[in-house]
Amino acid sequence: MHPDLSSQYIFISGAGRGLGRAVARHLARCGAVVGVSDIDAAGCEETVRLVRDAGGQAHGFPGDLSQRATFLEVAAEFAKVGKRIDAVVNNAAHLRYEKVEDVTQETFEKMVSIGLGAVVWGAQALLAHYDAGRGGAIINMASPVAYRGYPNTSIYSSIKGAIVAITHTLAAELGPRNVRVNAVAPASVPTPGALQYVDSAEYERRARTIPLRRIGREEDNSNAIAFLLSAEASFISGTVLHVDGGAVASA
Ligand SMILES: NC(=O)c1ccc[n+]([C@@H]2O[C@H](COP(=O)([O-])OP(=O)(O)OC[C@H]3O[C@@H](n4cnc5c(N)ncnc54)[C@H](O)[C@@H]3O)[C@@H](O)[C@H]2O)c1
Repeated sequence: MHPDLSSQYIFISGAGRGLGRAVARHLARCGAVVGVSDIDAAGCEETVRLVRDAGGQAHGFPGDLSQRATFLEVAAEFAKVGKRIDAVVNNAAHLRYEKVEDVTQETFEKMVSIGLGAVVWGAQALLAHYDAGRGGAIINMASPVAYRGYPNTSIYSSIKGAIVAITHTLAAELGPRNVRVNAVAPASVPTPGALQYVDSAEYERRARTIPLRRIGREEDNSNAIAFLLSAEASFISGTVLHVDGGAVASA
C-alpha cells in the first residue's frame, strides 16, 4: 500500500527524466498534486503527460532552476494551483565526472549553481508558500559519494557532502517553523544522467559488491521519498535515508 499523500502539493526539481520523473509519477500515484520542473521543457511536458495518463494531477514548469529568480517564479506559479506548497523535492543536478585538473570554471559554476544553489532556492520557495499550521517538508538528494571517496567526482561529491550539511542545518533552522528537512542517498540507479558515466560492466560489478546484491531501482528511491513526505514520518527530520542496499554501511 502506498502512503497517502492526497491534498499535498509537491514541487519537484529536475523531474523531466530519471529519478525526478519517477518520483513525480510515484507521488502522484500516492495522491499528491505534483509540480514538475526541469530545464528540459520537452522532458517536463512528457512527465506531466505520463502522470495525467495514469490518472494523476501534474503541472509543468520548464525553467533553469539554478537561477533564483526563475525558481521562485515557477514555484509561485505552482503555488497558485493549491494556494500553497507542502513540500519541495530538490532533485535537479548536473552530473559530470572528470579528473580534478580538468574541471573548468564554467563546469564548476554550472554544477554548484544547480546542485547546491537550487537547494537553497527550493527552501526559499517552500518557505514562501507553505502553510505553517499544516507544516512543510523538504527532501534533498544526497549520495554515497558524500561518505566515501570516488575518484574523478570531486565537484559532484563535494556538492553531495554539502547536501548532507545543509540538510542538518535546515532541519535545525526550520524545525521550529514546522518544516521537516531530510535527504535520501540512493545508489547505483541507471538513469540517463548516470549512464553517461557508468557502463553495464560497472553496474554488474556493483551488483556483486552491494550487500543486497543488486543495483538500485527508481522505485526504491521514490518509495523512500514518499515515506519521508508522509504523516508516518512526522517526527523524522535531519536524517539521510540511505537507499543503497547497504553500500555505504559496508564501505
Ligand atoms: N542515479 C543515481 O544512481 C543517483 C545516485 C545518487 C544520487 N542521485 C541524485 O539523484 C538526482 C537525480 O539524478 P538522476 O540520476 O535522475 O540524473 P539525471 O541527469 O538523469 O536527471 C537530472 C535532471 O535534472 C535536470 N536539470 C539539470 N540542470 C537543471 C537546471 N539548471 N534546471 C532545471 N533542471 C535541471 C536535468 O535536465 C535532468 O532532467 C540528482 O540529484 C543526483 O545527484 C542519483
